Amino acid sequence: MSTPKSFLLAGVIGCPVSHSLSPRLHGYWLREHGIEGAYLPLKVSSRDLEAALRGLPFLGFSGVNITVPHKERALQLCDEVDGAAEGVGAVNMVTVTKSGRLVGSNTDGVGFLTNLDQEGGGHATEGRAVVLGAGGAARAVVSALIERGVAEVLVCNRTYSRSEALADAFGVRCIPTHWEEREAKLEFASLLVNTTSLGMKGKPSLKLKLDALPKDAVVSDIVYSPLETRLLAVARARGNKVVDGLGMLLHQGRPAFGCWFGLTPEVTGDLRRYVEKALAL
Ligand code: ATR
Repeated sequence: MSTPKSFLLAGVIGCPVSHSLSPRLHGYWLREHGIEGAYLPLKVSSRDLEAALRGLPFLGFSGVNITVPHKERALQLCDEVDGAAEGVGAVNMVTVTKSGRLVGSNTDGVGFLTNLDQEGGGHATEGRAVVLGAGGAARAVVSALIERGVAEVLVCNRTYSRSEALADAFGVRCIPTHWEEREAKLEFASLLVNTTSLGMKGKPSLKLKLDALPKDAVVSDIVYSPLETRLLAVARARGNKVVDGLGMLLHQGRPAFGCWFGLTPEVTGDLRRYVEKALAL
C-alpha cells in the first residue's frame, strides 16, 4: 500500500468545503518551502465519509483535515486517535501511516492557545475564563484551557444542558453557567472567549455588555468572518486586548502541515495578509 511519495497530497474533507481557507493556507506554505505537493478541497457527504477516508491510503494521501460536519464522526472512523482528539471528542486532522492506518488528532485547541499566547499575552490564562457556547468549538477551547491549568472555566451556553454536558466532561474546574448570567460572570475574568456562531457574517450579532469585565482581560472571538466582530470592536474600544479568530485557524494548520509535508512552517504577517485577502473576496 505504501508507494514512494515524491508528490505529496493532502486536503480538507467537509460539506460544504468551498468556503474553507485551509487550501489557501497550506498552498501558501507549499509554495513558500518549494514542496512538490497539493492541498485540495474535498467535498464529501456524510454518507460517503467512511469510503472517502478508507480510500485515502490508496490515493496516496499523506493526510487530511476534517471540517464541518464530520469532526465527531471521523473520531469513530479512524483506526486510532490521540489524546487531543479523545479529549475534544472530535478529529480535525487525519494522518495516513506508512501501513495505511488512519490516525486522528485534534489541533484546534493547540491552535487556539498558541494564538492566544502570541496575541493576548501570558496572563490571559492566569485567572477565570468565561467561554460562551458549548458546541464543538467550545470543547476544543475548554479542553485546551483545562489542560493549560486554568483555575476556573465558566461555560455559558444558551441551552444550559449543553453547558452541563461539557462541564461534566472536564471536571470540577469547569463550571456550567446560565446564559442569563453571562454579563455578571465577567467579573474577575482574565479571559472571555466567544465560540458561538453569533457575530458571524449572516448571523445575529452577540449582544453582551462588558461593564463587569476587568480592563486587563483578554477578549477572543473564534469567528473570523468578519475579522473584527462587534464583540471585539466593543472590547477594543474600552481598552481590552483583543484576539481575532483568524490566528487560531492559521496556528491549527501548523502541526498538520508538519506531519504531512515534513516541516513545521511559521505563521507570519505575510501569510496572515495573504489568507485575509480571501475574506475580503
Ligand atoms: P460548533 O461545533 O461550530 O461550535 P454548534 O455545535 O452548532 O457549532 O454550536 C454553536 C454554538 O452557538 C452553540 O453553543 C449554540 O448554542 P445552543 O447550544 O443553545 O444551540 C450557540 N448559538 C447559536 N445561535 C445562538 C443564539 N442565537 N444565541 C445564543 N447562542 C447561540
